[in-house]
Amino acid sequence: MAKPNIETILSQLKGKPAFTRERFKEVLEEIKKWDGRLEGEIHVTAVDGKKRSAYFGRKDFEAIKDGTKPNFYLRYNSLQFLAQYYPGGAPLSISFCHGPLQKIPDCRQDPHLTANIQQWKADWFVSDYRRTLRENLEATLNIMDSVNKVVCFGLGPIYHFKGRPYTQHLAACEIRDVLLKVNKNVQIYAQEPSYCDMCRSELKKLGITVVDDPEGFLLIDKNTFVVTVAPNVPVRQIAVDLTYEHGGPAGMLCDRIFGDGRPCEDVSCPSSPAVWAWRERCAELPLVRDKNFPTSRVYVKGVHEKSVVYEEVEEVEETDMERWKPWVADEASSTCVPSCFPCPR
Ligand SMILES: C[S@@+](CC[C@H](N)C(=O)[O-])C[C@H]1O[C@@H](n2cnc3c(N)ncnc32)[C@H](O)[C@@H]1O
Repeated sequence: MAKPNIETILSQLKGKPAFTRERFKEVLEEIKKWDGRLEGEIHVTAVDGKKRSAYFGRKDFEAIKDGTKPNFYLRYNSLQFLAQYYPGGAPLSISFCHGPLQKIPDCRQDPHLTANIQQWKADWFVSDYRRTLRENLEATLNIMDSVNKVVCFGLGPIYHFKGRPYTQHLAACEIRDVLLKVNKNVQIYAQEPSYCDMCRSELKKLGITVVDDPEGFLLIDKNTFVVTVAPNVPVRQIAVDLTYEHGGPAGMLCDRIFGDGRPCEDVSCPSSPAVWAWRERCAELPLVRDKNFPTSRVYVKGVHEKSVVYEEVEEVEETDMERWKPWVADEASSTCVPSCFPCPR
């Protein structure tokens, strides 16, 4: 089957970003107006700039078994998703779904969590990834754009996958600690719908403030360092679009950006022409590869590779990477149930 083509969507956007503060504001206001009703209309602006309306009636909420109040949550549609489901163009970059409250897996299920956390911290402290991240970020400090916050997305609940999500949070803390050498105040925020209470309290100990969706996105500005590994949402498109007029965020630890999203990438966080243009304004820090960051890279804006002397790194053997198994979101964190506006299913 031919890959979907994002050109139609791009032409409807007329060079403007798809994810804007205006779109967030509009969708949030519509949800607020809904206020527990079981039927009514919703009006939102599509990517072609025209308003769309949808009617929700009682039958749309039949699948909600655990209460009467519809629980809306946002759905972020990448350019590639829109191209696939709306090949003729439009509708929404931010749509919303409703469904029962999600069941969050509880970290307390893991009786070894405290001991594991100690071990993950110890492993992180001596890892080559940490060393090269620190050394190379330090080398760029005086020439990179200033940073006053690190915002993390989709790093996962902390007890999952042998410390991989926990270690990704430790990397965010490491970035904060390095940035604190030149910035007086650097806060860390994390948005992840699958955090349980235990995650929240463990992350607080690391100085990380958990925020609800979409607050994390609304925190992104030109002085933000974004940290995201294999998220289920198009974080890179959202981050670059929200800071479009400033040329993108100050830095990102994210999945490798290897093109402009054409032809469509079969991933939940695909690239885009704007993401690629941002990447071209950045230097990529040379880091060793690590099983906890199998696909990621670190990009820093405002730094030209030739002006920095980086620490030389050796790549780890491919065979070490093979032990890593892709994270599969469990049912509890799946979205789009039972109905979305607009719902392509
Ligand atoms: C494939 S997992 C990756 C987890 C972890 N980063 C890793 O590499 O193992 C994708 C994560 O994105 C999260 N996610 C889904 N919707 C999100 C949203 N709106 N904001 C932030 N994270 C989200 C999911 O809950 C899930 O934990």
